[in-house]
Amino acid sequence: GLETPPSQCVGPEYRPATQKPTATVSKPLDQVPNIHILPQTPQLIALLTMIRDKNTGRADFIFYSNRIIRLLVEEGLNHLPVVGHEITTPVGRIYAGVKFEGKICGVSIMRAGESMEQGLRDCCRSVRIGKILIQRDEETSQPKLFYDKLPEDIADRWVLLLDPMLATGGSALMAVEVLKSRGVPEEHILFLNLIASPEGAKRFAEQVPKVRVVTAFVDQGLDEKNYIVPGLGDFGDRFYTL
Ligand code: URA
Repeated sequence: GLETPPSQCVGPEYRPATQKPTATVSKPLDQVPNIHILPQTPQLIALLTMIRDKNTGRADFIFYSNRIIRLLVEEGLNHLPVVGHEITTPVGRIYAGVKFEGKICGVSIMRAGESMEQGLRDCCRSVRIGKILIQRDEETSQPKLFYDKLPEDIADRWVLLLDPMLATGGSALMAVEVLKSRGVPEEHILFLNLIASPEGAKRFAEQVPKVRVVTAFVDQGLDEKNYIVPGLGDFGDRFYTL
C-alpha cells in the first residue's frame, strides 16, 4: 500500500512549529522491532534531499551520501557491546568509561554496498572488510550468490553488513544466509542501510528477526520495477558511474 507518507515539522524542539518547514520524514514502522531509524533531524533531511534530487551530480552525490553513511556507522557502533573501562587522566583523576569489546568486520553487498566501506574504515581503523556479490538470476528472477570473500574467522566477529538500498530485501536476506552458513549468529549481524522500503524492511525483520537494522529512512514503497519510491534511483549508478 502506498499511503500518504508522514510529514513533520523539521527543526529543534524549542522552535515554534510556525518557524519550521514541513518535510516528508521516515515512516515510523513501530510494528517492526529491531529496526532503528536515525532521528529525523534537519541535517539528515537536508542530506537526503540532496541525494534524492535527480539534478544532484556525482561529486555531490558522493559527498552527501558519505555524510549519511558516517551517521549510520556511528549509530551502528552504538549497538555493539562495550564493557566498563576505568582510566586515569593526565591530572591524575579516575574516569569511569567504557571500551568496545569483541572483534568486528564489515561485509559489503556488491556493488552499491562497497560505497559504504570508506565510512566504516573512517570509524574503525584497519577494519577487515569482506564482500558478497548477489545478482538476480535472469531465468528465475531470484537473487543468486555469485561470489563471496569473507574473513576466515568471521564466525568470531560482529558483522556490519553494508547495502544502501533495501528494496525487496532479497539480496540482504541471501547475504544473511551466507553469513549464517559461515557460523555467524544472526544476533551478531548489524545491517546498515540508507533507505528501506516498508515491505522490504518488514520481510527482512520477519525472516531474520535477530538481525538489527540501522537505517536513515523508511520510504513510501516500491514501484513496478522494484525501485524504492520516492527513493533516489539506482544508488550504484549514481555513486560509481553517472
Ligand atoms: N537499488 C537501488 O539502487 N535503488 C532502488 O531504488 C532499489 C534498489
